[in-house]
Amino acid sequence: MAGRNFLFVPGPTNVPDRVLRAMAVPMEDHRSPIFPELTRACLQALKPVFKTTSASPILFPSSGTGCWEAALTNCLNPGDKILASRFGQFSHLWVDMCIRLGFDVEVLETPWGEGAPVERYLASLSADKQHKIKAVLVCQNETATGVTSDVAAIRRALDSAKHPALLFVDSVSALASIDFRMDEWGVDVCVSGSQKGLMLPAGMGITCVSQKALEAAKTAKSRRCYFDYADMVNANASGYFPYTPSIPMLYGLRESLAMLAEEGLENVFKRHSYLAGGVRAAVLEGWKLKLCATSPKWHSDTVSAIMVPDGINGADVIARAFKRYNLALGAGLSKVAGKLFRIGHLGDLNELMLLGALGGAEMAMLDSGVKVEPGSGAAAAQNFWRSNPAASSQKAA
Ligand SMILES: Cc1ncc(COP(=O)(O)O)c(C=O)c1O
Repeated sequence: MAGRNFLFVPGPTNVPDRVLRAMAVPMEDHRSPIFPELTRACLQALKPVFKTTSASPILFPSSGTGCWEAALTNCLNPGDKILASRFGQFSHLWVDMCIRLGFDVEVLETPWGEGAPVERYLASLSADKQHKIKAVLVCQNETATGVTSDVAAIRRALDSAKHPALLFVDSVSALASIDFRMDEWGVDVCVSGSQKGLMLPAGMGITCVSQKALEAAKTAKSRRCYFDYADMVNANASGYFPYTPSIPMLYGLRESLAMLAEEGLENVFKRHSYLAGGVRAAVLEGWKLKLCATSPKWHSDTVSAIMVPDGINGADVIARAFKRYNLALGAGLSKVAGKLFRIGHLGDLNELMLLGALGGAEMAMLDSGVKVEPGSGAAAAQNFWRSNPAASSQKAA
């Protein structure tokens, strides 16, 4: 197909040319005397992204899923009790992993389209007088439904119940796009990956581990080897890795972290919120469709999950967008398969790129029989962006 492919799944996201160029490097000796400069540059520059001074960023040659497993197997003993909520495919998969690894999970079942139920976390934690719950899991941004949860409120629930459990947060589709505060929120493990807000190819698990979690790892008996935190932290202390790292990925990470620092992390968040506002205007005001997120308080600034009308298969819209217009939209997963399609709006993006996605999604919907007004999505998004401060002027702020 002539022209470029429009990649609008909520990860992997577009990799900026600067990052691609930085990654085009010959291989080198990862045990050389100068290699630690690269390792240290990456680990140091990641700390402000996690908003931590005391926790340790860790890079695994995996994806986000590997970091989920690392959190569980490094910090917990076999059969330990975990408290988690399930309201979408990714929060589901983490719960499923806990069960498959033999942990005892109390699952707060929550309707898909809502976020982490803070009051129910508080009730379970308060009822757990013997402190059997050893870890609390929360998915900050449920990519399957476009729902963002309030992690700070989960920390407040732990504090108000005076509960010592570790707090593990999945920030795979939030980190470097939606505010995340490791130290302020008392997060013990933050799980993320390279292919979303960090604007890198898929293939690196990016996680951050508190001192409390590293302390727990010293005595935790769950089996692990490749994903052992201590092996990694010890090797990183001298600037090396316990096994061969992906060298191009480290160069890419150093570049993407430089780009985030140049824009300013707070401006990156504002840009995501501003771009997401345009997409939501297109969906709600232009197309007059519904989001899967059932209330504005859950609206995600990195992904919108758009419900298709009854009688329409969301998978058709996605297939037409891909085959006819060279546009990749996100699919409805598991429970919401066929009921929605998703537009990812995170990473290296601006208004005009998003207008391409909105135009393509609109044509694919019309072709699939969705009765939207032609041009209405783009018009609503344009009105939103034109009547709100531009991302570029926020840069200067
Ligand atoms: C919220 C969330 N958690 C976890 C994952 C799994 O991450 P990965 O595919 O990098 O293993 C994803 C992937 O999209 C995700 O969106």
